[in-house]
Formats: sequence, structure tokens, C-alpha cells
Amino acid sequence: MASFFLTQPLMTTTIPTISKASLCPFFKNRSQTPSNAKRKNKVLSRRSSISCMAREGGDQKNPNIDSNGVGKLDRRNVLFGLGGLYGVAGLQGSEQFAIAEPLLPPDLSKCSTPSGLPQGIKTECCPPFSDEIIDFKPPLRAPLRVRPAAHAVDSEYIAKYNEATKRMRELDENDPRNFMQQAKVHCAYCNGSYDQVNYPELDIQVHNSWLFFPFHRWYLHFYEKILGKLIDDPTFALPFWNWDHPSGMQMPAMFTNKSSALYDEKRSNKHQPPSIVDLNFSTKDEKSYQEQVNENLSVMYQSMVSGAKLPLLFFGEPYSQGSEKEPGAGTVERTPHTAVHIWGGSERNREPNGEDMGNFYSAGRDPLFYCHHANVDRMWNLWKTVGGPKRKDIKDPDFLDAAFLFYDENARLVRVKVRDCLDTKRLGYIYEDVPLPWLYKKQKPHKSKYLKMLKSLGVARASDAKRVALSDFPVTLTDSMITAVVQRPTKGRSKEEKEEEEEVLVIEGIEFDKELAVKFDVYINDEDAPGADKSEFAGSFGNVPHKLKPGAQHSKVSLKLGISDLLDDVGADDDESIIVALVPKSNYPVTIGGIKIELVS
Ligand code: C2O
Repeated sequence: MASFFLTQPLMTTTIPTISKASLCPFFKNRSQTPSNAKRKNKVLSRRSSISCMAREGGDQKNPNIDSNGVGKLDRRNVLFGLGGLYGVAGLQGSEQFAIAEPLLPPDLSKCSTPSGLPQGIKTECCPPFSDEIIDFKPPLRAPLRVRPAAHAVDSEYIAKYNEATKRMRELDENDPRNFMQQAKVHCAYCNGSYDQVNYPELDIQVHNSWLFFPFHRWYLHFYEKILGKLIDDPTFALPFWNWDHPSGMQMPAMFTNKSSALYDEKRSNKHQPPSIVDLNFSTKDEKSYQEQVNENLSVMYQSMVSGAKLPLLFFGEPYSQGSEKEPGAGTVERTPHTAVHIWGGSERNREPNGEDMGNFYSAGRDPLFYCHHANVDRMWNLWKTVGGPKRKDIKDPDFLDAAFLFYDENARLVRVKVRDCLDTKRLGYIYEDVPLPWLYKKQKPHKSKYLKMLKSLGVARASDAKRVALSDFPVTLTDSMITAVVQRPTKGRSKEEKEEEEEVLVIEGIEFDKELAVKFDVYINDEDAPGADKSEFAGSFGNVPHKLKPGAQHSKVSLKLGISDLLDDVGADDDESIIVALVPKSNYPVTIGGIKIELVS
């Protein structure tokens, strides 16, 4: 049974005796020379390997090796592949895991022109250089910053925020705290200005993996502290765009005042107030106000509650040192996060790359970005309180010890680790408490009962023409829906069994051009694509356009959707198979490698 997540720190797994000779030369020394790193990377990318800590005949100095030569694999050294660690037996295969270490902070002296800018765009994203780096220390005693909902603040707050942003824009352009310098932080970490230390052929990328939440949390933390410093108010806190509540679903008014420092010209014209945000935005559909509110709440429920019962479903896939590409985003990163970026950026006939919000390289240039991301960050805090035994931060050291560099409010370069940002109170801030209308927003099934009836009558479905056999994959999704019948590994499990293992629908081998705002939705047992406000909606795949190093932009990713609750809601838990419908929501082709269902603990 596949298990792609372990919550125990330093968990050890007993493995059979390992022949060291062919594997260990690569891993003698953990601090590697670049040429070593390249070789190591080859091993990482194609073949799994076993830590050198495992030796034949036991090892007195190494508690991980017993006298029978049975190595206990140090959890720190295992990066779970897409399919996960398939138990002890699975270790006999060669593809299941690889050696890994947490991402190291970038080497600023090697920062370069971003390798991943849209065609025709020239910009530099490197911060000023400094070789004096201090390690982050949580403040001992600091005034608490309370981040408010953006639509509900008073004019005094708006004036203050506006003034702070104005001063930030007015700082010397080489001051790392300057507004454009802050915007470049995003570009540098997301568009390939930094090579991974030890892996110069690989870029650092903080999206589409478990680095997404912590990186942006740190980024906003320093941005906020700088603003506070500029107006001499250490209690200043960024507003959050409360798009998960009907009263916050418009672009917050403070950002739309054209004479404010919070205004950005490069935004969607169409989506100015009173237009309501579409948390599952695609250029393909128009909805009424009430339909849109319903759909937004249902997207929230799916991203935060029913579809996010396991940490890796919520945070996204592991990303460690040597990770080659973007392994896969978590629920909230996909929707609403990505959808709101695309919704907020300019229409493409005005700005071909969807600037500013709609493209990674430019997103940080819009003050709205930080307001959007404050709400994304708030979702991390909320997710841990939504209930269920598994809603906890990831304890894998590859997550906890991943490190980044930021300039702080005193223009000092600070090295931070993920482990220091898990609790926002320790960073000195919390969020204003507001109602969560999506929390119990269970949707009604749309079609399932009707389909069941047809099935029992032996009537063929009208949509059989769209059906693709699993053996026909890979297939390309272009402008019309495709459906496939997928067998379930088991059916009719007890409540306890469902708590123990989540049923996860895996859409794998997804290939697309990362420069395009590709999107598709996934429905189960419903071939009418009825909108996200029905129980059959399982989730959505979306991309904020960005480019990777040449040749790397078509790397494959997989989409993992937790569906245990959904199958209960649509009354399909006793069925042996389900119909999976993939509905294209952009006009860009996407290749789908295959579909399967796994049980994940
Ligand atoms: Cu770094 Cu919302 O993207």
C-alpha cells in the first residue's frame, strides 16, 4: 500500500542488507564539490540509492546498522518519490526513493539573470550582495501584530499602510528594502536566479511543492517588518484578502484607489469591484453572483477540509536538495492561490504574460500580492485547527531545515529555516478571527444518483463517446472533456479505516508548457462538468505561468486528490470503480500520463 508521508521525525526503516560498493562512492562527503554534485544528481534523478550509513557487517559507530548487516535507513536521507515508499518490500525495486537533504539557502554571490523569464522580458532580480549573514532568532519580546481582514479596516489603517508602502517605494533603489527590491525577491526564488548550492545545474524553485507555504510566510514576515519600521510602528500588520468569505470576495477597495501607493496599473480591468473573485478561475465560464459565492465556498471546503486530510495533500510534494523540478502543489496552492493570481493579472490582450499578478516574475510588483498571500498564509494556520488527527505540520527534517535568505527591516541579511516559522506567534503575528462560512460547506451531489439509476437500467450514457480506456493513456486534453473508468483498490471501508488511510486519486504524468495558464478540473461520477459547487468536484489543476531553465519546462507532475469524503458524499463508496472526468478549463493542451487510485496513510 502506498504511503507517501511519514509524520515521525528521524523515522528509521529496517531494510535488507545492502551492497555498498556500487553506491557509496557518491556519498562519502556530504559537502560536495560541484562535479561530485552533478554525479550525485544523476543518481538522484534516475535511480534510487541507499545511504552510505548502511554497511555490511554492522557498524559500531553507526547505530543505524545492526550486527546482521541490516541497515536502518536514516529518514533524513530518504526522499519519497512520486509514488512514495512502498514499504519494505518495495525497497527491492530501484525506483522508489533517493538520498536527499534539506534545501540550502542560495549563494548570493552566484545570483544571476533569471533563466526563466517570459519571452522578450528582460529584468534582473538579484538582491544587493552581502556576505554578512545572521541566523534568524525569534523575537524575545515583541509587540504582537494582528493581521486584519482587508475589507473591514478603517481609513486610519489604510492611510498608514499607504504611507508605509509609499516610503518603501521611495527608498534608494539599491536598498534591499525598496519596494522593487522586495518584488525581486519573488522573481529570484521563482524564476531561476539562484542555482541550488551543490547542484549548480538546478534552479531553486519555491512553488509547486511543500516549500510553498513556508517560503511565502517568511517573505511576508520580512516585508511586513520593513513596512512597520518605515512608519515606526512595530505593531503594523499586513491586511489579508478575505476571499474565503462573501464579504471579502471583491478586490479590496484600498488597492483600487488610483492615487494610492497600493495601486498597480497592471491588473485585470474586468475584475475591479464589484466583480467577485473566482477562486477556481478560468477564462471559460461566467457565473451569477450567487453561483460564484457558492462555488467559492465549495472550493474552500474542498481545498481545506475534504481534500486536505493529509499533510502532503495540503502542503504539496517533498522538495529537497537536488530536487529537479516542481514535484506537485498542495490543495490551496492550486486553488484558490493560483486562480486568484490569474484572476488578478491583466487580461492577456493588454499584458501578454498576465502581469503583474498573473506571472511569477512580476507578481511581487503588485501590493495586492502581499494581501492575497496573507490570506494564503492564514489558511496554513486554519488548516491545523479544522480537525482530524493528521492536520499537523510536516516533521520531516528535509522540510523543517530547508533554508532561505531575506533582508530584514534593518537591511541585514538573515538566514531562516522552515522550522522557525511553523508557529506565527513565535514570529510575532496572528490573524484577526473572522467567520469561516466554508467550514461545513458540504455540497449536494449533482448527478450520481441519476447515473446509478441509468446503470441499473442498463442504459448507455450519452457521454460514452468521451470515454478513454486506461490503456490508451497518455492522452492529450485539449478543448473537450475526457472520462475514464478507474478501479478502486478497495470499497466500503469502515470509518476508522478511512481515517487511517485516505483514498487518493492520482492523475499522473501531467505534461504542459509552464509558460501558460493551463487549467483543468476533475469530477467524479459526473460527466456534465456542473461547476465546483457540487460534491462531484474533486479539485483542480492550475499553473501560474513561469519559465524554467531551457529544456526543463515540460517536466511531468502529478495531481493528488483526497477523495474519501467525496465518495461518501456522492454515495459511491460501495462501487468498485468510479468515472473520472477531466474537464479542460484553458485552451492549452495538457498531456495526461495516467490515472490511478492509491490508499495513503
Ligand atoms: Cu510565489 Cu502566489 O506565488
